[in-house]
Amino acid sequence: MKKDICLILLGAPGAGKGTQAKQLVDIFEMIQLSTGEMLREEVAKKSTKGIKANEYMKAGSLVPDDLIIEMLKDRLVNVTQSVILDGFPRTEKQAEALDDMIESLGKQIDYVINISVDDEKLISRLSGRLVCKNCGASFHKMFAVPLIEGKCDFCKGELYQRSDDKPESIKNRLEVYHKSTKPLIDFYKTKGLFYEIDGDQSADQVLLMLKSILSEGK
Ligand code: AP5
Repeated sequence: MKKDICLILLGAPGAGKGTQAKQLVDIFEMIQLSTGEMLREEVAKKSTKGIKANEYMKAGSLVPDDLIIEMLKDRLVNVTQSVILDGFPRTEKQAEALDDMIESLGKQIDYVINISVDDEKLISRLSGRLVCKNCGASFHKMFAVPLIEGKCDFCKGELYQRSDDKPESIKNRLEVYHKSTKPLIDFYKTKGLFYEIDGDQSADQVLLMLKSILSEGK
C-alpha cells in the first residue's frame, strides 16, 4: 500500500466504521479522523463548537455542514500520512467540500468503502454498544463483550453508553442516514472509487475484506 492514501469509510450508524478504523490504524499505520469523536471531545470541553453541536448530536441529527467542514479542514491540513475518514462526509455538500480540500492539499481520495448492514441489525448493535471513555474503543454487551465488565480491554478505561444510543436518537440517526448520507454511495460510484463490503459478518471477517482491498495496492 502506498504511504499517503486517503480512505473514506462510509456506512450507517453502527455499521462498524469505528471498530474497523481502529484496527486499520494499527495494521497500516494510518491515522483515523472521526468527526463524531472530534465533536464528542468538543462537547466534553464545553467549547463553543461543542455546545452548539451537542443539541444536534443528542437528537441524532447532523450538525451543520459549515461547522463540521471547518473542523475537518483544520485537522486534515496537518496530516502527512495515510488517513481514514470515519463519519465524514455525510452530505453531498460535505463531499463536495472534501473534494476541494483534497485538491488544494495536492492529495487524492484513493478508496471509498461502504460497510453495509441492514437497519434491524444496526439497532441491536447501537443499543448494546459500550464505548471506552478514555480511548474510544467500542464493545458490545453481546457481540464484543469486554474481558472485564465495565472496563476497556485495551486501556482499562471506563465503558459507558453514548447518549445518542438511546432508542429515539437511534431511530432519527437511521432516518437521517437514509435521507442524507446513503445518496453518497451513488456520488462516489460515479467517480469509480467505490467498494462495498457486507458488514453483516464478524468484525474479523470484515477486517479481512478491508485488508484485501487495501493490499491490492494502488
Ligand atoms: P459518529 O460518532 O460518527 O456516529 P455514527 O456514524 O452514528 O457511527 P457510530 O459511531 O454510531 O457507528 P460505527 O459505524 O462507528 O460503529 P461501531 O464500530 O462503533 O457521529 C455521532 C454524531 O456526531 C452524529 O449523529 C452527528 O450528530 C454528529 N456527526 C458526526 N459526523 C458528522 C458529519 N460528518 N456531519 C454532521 N454531523 C456529524 O460499532 C457499533 C457497535 O457494533 C459496537 O458495539 C461494536 O462492538 C459492534 N460491532 C461492530 N462491528 C460488528 C460486527 N461485524 N458484528 C457485530 N457487532 C459489531
